[in-house]
Amino acid sequence: MTGHATEAPTPGPVTVTGATTAAADAAADNVKVRIRGLTKEFDVKGRSVTALQELDLDIPRGQFFMIVGPSGCGKTTLLRIMAHLDSPTRGEVEVRHSAEGRPENSMIFQGDSIFPWMTVWENASYGLRMRGVDKAEVRDTVGHYLDKTGLTDFKDCYPHQLSGGMRQRVSISRAFANDPDILLMDEPFSALDEQNKTLLQDELLRIWDETRKTVVFITHSVDEAVTLGDRIMVMTAHPGTAKAFVDVPFERPRDVLDLRHRPEYGEIVYEIWQQLRDEVSRSQQRDRAATTSSRRRFGR
Ligand SMILES: Nc1ncnc2c1ncn2[C@@H]1O[C@H](COP(=O)(O)OP(=O)(O)OP(=O)(O)O)[C@@H](O)[C@H]1O
Ligand SMILES: [Mg+2]
Repeated sequence: MTGHATEAPTPGPVTVTGATTAAADAAADNVKVRIRGLTKEFDVKGRSVTALQELDLDIPRGQFFMIVGPSGCGKTTLLRIMAHLDSPTRGEVEVRHSAEGRPENSMIFQGDSIFPWMTVWENASYGLRMRGVDKAEVRDTVGHYLDKTGLTDFKDCYPHQLSGGMRQRVSISRAFANDPDILLMDEPFSALDEQNKTLLQDELLRIWDETRKTVVFITHSVDEAVTLGDRIMVMTAHPGTAKAFVDVPFERPRDVLDLRHRPEYGEIVYEIWQQLRDEVSRSQQRDRAATTSSRRRFGR
């Protein structure tokens, strides 16, 4: 029932398309992120390393967009370029900013991304305070998100007094309180155990449902991609580009546990794994070859 990236979309819960869908989205007026021919090369000790190659992508406004791909395929690099923390070597990246006075993006980085010297409240309110937002509004907005994430009783604690899951809740509160146009999340739950991850996915979906912001979310977990996303981009192994786009048809609001009971859920997970399998093994072969060559070089 499923097809390869180059095949036309198939009926049923799984729709796999090649980059042609990007062209259709571009035609629509509601494109939030538009990327054409993005190539990123890094200079590593005088040698050019291509992290991203000729990537085309459109993300519509309000979409929960997921990125999966083997380690080292350029996911973080892509997110950093969207956040303007890095620049393309070639190609165009356009992030359309819709509201003056609001930040274009908030980014949650891989690993801990809160300030260890600030309390939960100070961390969560940081963006708003930096923008000089009225104190009463800061109190209401931050109070709302700390309440949503169950952190109200911990608002005066410092990060070292919190569990890993609670620290990620602070990151989420800060990102949503900041009210950005687009949320960029780089494996925010990867360090968490399965129970905490499931709880946080559920919380994230509930908070997101209130605002329906555009989200770009990187994950190594195929389950997480299907649970959270509207659309999933599977990337090729290094150098990274779009291999396939998979649409996730589940209605919203979603319940994380209910979703996993559905037969269509398993079908989509299987489809994505099929797309990923070759890429992951290519990436592993490359890593092994690099290890062998460095052992030879250093005589080990
Ligand atoms: N600042 C940099 N300088 C040189 N090379 C870099 C730099 N940042 C990333 N790279 C290289 O670019 C490639 C992509 O890296 P990136 O961190 O984007 O991968 P990733 O898909 O996020 O990997 P992971 O899943 O392990 O987080 C890798 O080969 C990496 O070594
Ligand atoms: Mg990364």
